[in-house]
This record gives sequence, C-alpha cells and structure tokens, in this order.
Amino acid sequence: MARKDFLDIASLSREEVDLLLDQATPFKELFTRSVKKVPALKGKSVLMLFYEPSTRTLSSFEVAAKRLSADVIDLDVPHSSVAKGETVKDTVDTLQAMRADYIVVRHKMSGLPQAIARQTRASVINAGDGAHAHPTQALLDAFTLREVFPDLSGRKVLIAGDILHSRVARSTSSLLLKLGVEVGFLGPGSLIPRSGPEGIRKFTDFDEALRWNPDTVYLLRVQMERQDAQYFPGVQEYHRVYGVTRERLDLIQGEGIYIMHPGPVNRGVELCHEVMDYERSLINQQVENGIAARMAVLYSLKPQTDLEDADPGKI
Ligand code: CP
Repeated sequence: MARKDFLDIASLSREEVDLLLDQATPFKELFTRSVKKVPALKGKSVLMLFYEPSTRTLSSFEVAAKRLSADVIDLDVPHSSVAKGETVKDTVDTLQAMRADYIVVRHKMSGLPQAIARQTRASVINAGDGAHAHPTQALLDAFTLREVFPDLSGRKVLIAGDILHSRVARSTSSLLLKLGVEVGFLGPGSLIPRSGPEGIRKFTDFDEALRWNPDTVYLLRVQMERQDAQYFPGVQEYHRVYGVTRERLDLIQGEGIYIMHPGPVNRGVELCHEVMDYERSLINQQVENGIAARMAVLYSLKPQTDLEDADPGKI
C-alpha cells in the first residue's frame, strides 16, 4: 500500500483492505514471542495528537508504534499550548518543524485529520473524527471477525445502538460491506440515519432483528456527549428495549451469537454486566487485535518525510 495517510474506509480498495488484514496476522503472532519488537520503524517518530479522551486507541497506537521500534511522543493536549489558545494549524506546523513522520490524530471535528494531512509531509492517521470515521477501529473489528469466521462473505452482523452519532458504525459497516458481510442496523428510529449505504437492513425491534439470524451483535456505546437532543426516554428504558439484558443474553447464548463492542462500555445501558463474562464476547479480543491492526496500518504507510532520505547531500 503506497498511501501517505489513513483517513477513512471509503477510499480503501478491497485489495488494500485484504493486504492490511493479512499484514496484521504476523504482527499478532509476534505478541506470543519473548521479544515482541521488530525494527521496521526504527528511527521514525510517531506523534499522538488526541484532542478527545481515549483509552484503547491511544494506548494501542503507542504499543503498536513501540513494537515497530518507532519513537513515540504523546502530545498531552490538555497540558500543551493548546490550553493557551494555540490553533490546530499552528500545533501541526510546530510538529512538522520537529520532523514527525506519523501523526495520529483524534478530534471532535469531522474532517480535521484530512485538513492536517494536506498540511504536513507526515503520514496522518485518523484515530476518530467527530461522528465521521474511526477507520482503525473498523480494521480491528474486521480482523477480529475474520479470526472467528475465516470467510466473512455472507455472514450477518447486527450493529445496535446510537448509529446516528457513531463514527464506529459508519466505518465498521462500510468495511464489513466491502468484505461481503450483510449488515443490519438496530436502534430507536431517532438514532438510525435515514440515508446511508444501500443494502443495510434497518430494525427498531430487537426480537425482530434477532429473527434475522445475525452471527454477531455489535453493540455501540450510547454517546451522551454527542447528543444535542433527547433521542430516547432514558437509559433504563434504552436498556430494556435496545440493550442486551440478562434475558436477551440467554437468547443470544442459545443461538451461539457473538457479541462485540468498541468500548468503553456503559454497563446497565447497552449491556448487562454478565455480557463481559459471556464466552462468545469478543470485546477483549478486539482490544488485543487493535495493536496488530494498528501495527499493520503504521507499517503500510509512506510518509513523505521518507523522500528526504534520497538527498545525496545528506549525512
Ligand atoms: N474504541 C475506542 O475508540 O475506544 P477509546 O475511546 O478508549 O479509544
């Protein structure tokens, strides 16, 4: 893959997706060795620029970059000059002057990683922009599903919850459709977008959605922070109608359905406590696979900073 940046799923070809998924496999195998590092990005620097909170994405990018032997700098945004009013453009210019090779960015504004990518020679990786895209989450989700179902074609994945505000739903559904997976959306009518990709089944009733026979139910986090209106009566009501309750878990277990969730989970809202111990929960596997998938992305990109190595006058 000769891309400079990794910004969304829509622009990836099926061939590029397959290459990335195939590349993640040997990186995951590395985790079982005593030395978990390869020298692929030795001498390169990876900068974390997170304007929104993150546990999984930030830490797994850090681990991924370190396992590729890159130097990692986490720009602690709340304690950086951003707190003094520095603009994103000025911050990126500063990072450019420091010769970062990769910038991993998360921001509440949709489209910001694309704008940064145009501004810098570094490879820019979108770690989540507003409600637009979360492409590395989609990649780790597809990788996790492929471990369970080596041939994804014709498998059914039901994505349940706050589809409207979810960058995960947008990116993961887009990637699964590319891989031939049948996708269904389940949620309150107010949280399911009216437009969107063709071929997605839409459900507002959980029991009806389960009669569609999904192989996997992918639960989304209810994102209170992105809702500017009241989309459902309350969290208890949401749990009763759209959550995996204790009773629904019995049904799901009986049918051998897998459960996924991007994290962080809201216990008692989209799922009951027992889901975390369910034998077909892939939630922890998703976290582990996040490192391998992100290693594959970092490994595949070509920062334009590399071109400077071609200068014969350089030491
Ligand atoms: N799935 C995900 O993006 O989690 P974080 O917000 O913890 O990074």
